[in-house]
Amino acid sequence: MPLSARSLLIAVVFLSVGVVAGFLAAGWLSDDPDAEYEAAVQRGHDLATLMCARCHAVADEPQSPREGAPPFRTIMGRLTAEGLDDELSEGLVAGHDPMPRWLLSTRQIDDLFFYIDSISVQGS
Ligand code: HEC
Repeated sequence: MPLSARSLLIAVVFLSVGVVAGFLAAGWLSDDPDAEYEAAVQRGHDLATLMCARCHAVADEPQSPREGAPPFRTIMGRLTAEGLDDELSEGLVAGHDPMPRWLLSTRQIDDLFFYIDSISVQGS
């Protein structure tokens, strides 16, 4: 009896270690919010470069390629965080004629949001 209880305990311990290791490997227990944030900003940057850079200045370019398209670093100065979130979620339809209409996933919206927020300059 004591022997089987011990093997059971050992089995349970091994199992838990395996499960935790699996979670960690999958990144589900990531307890580093800074790294999460950095990764989101990086994805947002890549998306912006891919989808938005043909009209907007998406980083520190002095001017947007397309006249009338605000540089990303100035957007937060004109919109509130909530406003930007709305714009991104709605596919920027309202009042933005030259803007293509697109559907972004929730995650892409978050990534773009974090990116634009991260490069925003004050007071412009
Ligand atoms: C075909 C050119 C074009 C592309 C591509 C484009 N935009 Fe725009 N965008 C514009 C123009 C022009 C405006 C200004 C429209 C206006 O003020 O009516 C604008 C306005 C905006 C605004 C509103 C800014 C404000 O101050 O109200 C946001 C936010 C925005 N774009 C985000 C994006 C994002 C994010 C992408 C890429 C996923 C993108 N745009 C791709 C041309 C473009």
